[in-house]
Formats: sequence, C-alpha cells, structure tokens
Amino acid sequence: MNANRSASITAYDARMTNPAAPSPLPDDGDAIDVQGLTLRFGHLTAVDHIDLQVPYGIIFGLLGANGAGKSSIIKMLTTLLPPTSGHARVAGYDISANPHEVRRRIGYVPQMLSADGALTGRENLLLSARLYGVAANERRDRIETALDFMGLSDSADRLVKTYSGGMVRRLELAQAMLHKPAVLFLDEPTIGLDPVARHAVWKHLKDLNQEFRMTILLTTHDMEEADHLCTDVAILQTGKVAIQGTPSELKAAIDEHATLDDVFTRFSGSSGDAGRLTDTAAARRVARRLG
Ligand SMILES: Nc1ncnc2c1ncn2[C@@H]1O[C@H](COP(=O)(O)OP(=O)(O)OP(=O)(O)O)[C@@H](O)[C@H]1O
Ligand SMILES: [Mg+2]
Repeated sequence: MNANRSASITAYDARMTNPAAPSPLPDDGDAIDVQGLTLRFGHLTAVDHIDLQVPYGIIFGLLGANGAGKSSIIKMLTTLLPPTSGHARVAGYDISANPHEVRRRIGYVPQMLSADGALTGRENLLLSARLYGVAANERRDRIETALDFMGLSDSADRLVKTYSGGMVRRLELAQAMLHKPAVLFLDEPTIGLDPVARHAVWKHLKDLNQEFRMTILLTTHDMEEADHLCTDVAILQTGKVAIQGTPSELKAAIDEHATLDDVFTRFSGSSGDAGRLTDTAAARRVARRLG
C-alpha cells in the first residue's frame, strides 16, 4: 500500500473514535449468533430453525440455490424483517429487542442495486451519511475517505447512471462503510459484474476485512468467490443449513480433488432430485463430523 493510502486509512481510523460512535465491541462472543431463526411467509417456510455462529473478524459465506433463504436471513439480521420465531444477536445486540443498536453497528448492501442513478456518487454518500447518523462536521472527511478507499474519487461528481456496474457496487460499499460498521452484510455483491470488476470488489472486501477488522457476511452463487474470500461457509438447502465449515474442510469431505462447486452440487439440493435424500443424509453425517 502506498504511503498516502496508508495515511488516509490511519486518519479514517482515528476519526472513528469520535464520541458519537457506538461503544467498543466486546472482545468475546460472536459477531453474529443465530439460534433457531425461522421465517414463514404464509405456508412457506423460507428459513427453518437456523443456527449459525460467526466470530468477529471473518468473512462468512452464505451459499445456496435460488430460493434457499439467503436474502431472507440477511433481511432478518439487518432488522428489515421480523423473524417468525427464534433469536439472533448481531454485534452483541438482539435483533428483536434492540434493533436500533443493531442498525448502528451494521452496514447492508442489498441484492438489487440500490444507489440512486439520478444523483452523483458524492450525493449518494451524503444521503447515506445522514441515514447512518454520521455527525454533520464529520461527513465531508468520511465521504472523501470512503471515495478514496473504493477508488471512486475521480468519478464522485458524475451521475451514478453513468457508472459501470462495478463502480455502482463499489459506491454501495462506500455507502455501507461510512459509519465503519462492525458487521457488513452483502447480498450477492458481485452479481452481474465482469471478471475485472469482480476482482476489484474482492480486493476492497479483503481490505475492509483486514484493515478495519470488519466482519463480513455475504451471499454468492459464485463458488470461486466463496473459496477466495470466505473463512467459513454454510450451504443452505430450502431454509436449513445443509453443511457448514471452511472451504478446505468441505472440499476434503468429498475428496482431495473436489472443488467448492462440487460441494455445492452435492449439498445444495439443486442438482436434481434423485440423490436428494441420500445427499441430505450424507450432508448431515459430514456436518456432524466437522461440527
Ligand atoms: N416477501 C415474500 N413473500 C413471499 N415469499 C417470499 C418473500 N420473500 C421471499 N420469499 C420466498 O422465500 C424463499 C426464500 O427466498 P430468498 O429470497 O430468501 O432466497 P435466496 O436464497 O435469497 O434466493 P436467490 O438466490 O434467488 O436470491 C423463496 O421461496 C421465496 O420465493
Ligand atoms: Mg437472494
């Protein structure tokens, strides 16, 4: 990293110690602790008694076929949807009892692009700074630093509708990092991006995780992305965790040549129906072994 960049990050860190910032995070406990979390839409059970523990400081991948329940879990953990039953704590606070405290400590980039195309990048960031309660006298510095961090300084005053998909995603990451959240939720952060833009987002996510020790929970259909970024992954199958572990553990559980694509095909239940019951049983056996 060049000296300017390093200095700007140090300055960014220093600014984060303002009196209005949330109290320091506990050293123990998990960033995300989910117990029996369930979400029903009428007769459909989208999330079915999920248990998950995500330690502080890691990148966690939530994988699963279309409709498996990934976005539903994120919407509950970000307090956008109330659970039907079960409990979850995020950054030390219960999502149902203390949603306001949770919101102060998280960032969220939704699955659908959310930046406003009719505004410039800088204007979008200003809106987010207000939304996240960044103090008025700090907004300008934080916005400049976030633009610099995401490589968008030169495009800050262009309308977002002229941005490429990769730039929009980086702007959304900049919006989500303004208040330096402890936990960042990203729903398919690289969907629709070309390989160069995708790798740029990967680099920025690693930087956020390593330089600010930000815990990241992301969803993806891209197994190369999960393998590259995630310390730990869980594969969902129709609202339940089919298997969880490090990418290496899960690959080794199949055989020494297996890829994460192979693991996904085996455990996500999306590979057809013939082997589904057998595979579910196998998944549970491996899960017990790893657990
Ligand atoms: N608002 C809603 N009303 C009714 N059903 C819903 C609603 N939102 C999601 N569902 C259903 O809940 C299930 C889980 O959906 P969810 O969006 O969480 O899946 P996902 O894993 O994020 O899928 P994708 O990979 O396609 O984004 C699906 O069957 C979906 O149709
Ligand atoms: Mg989704």
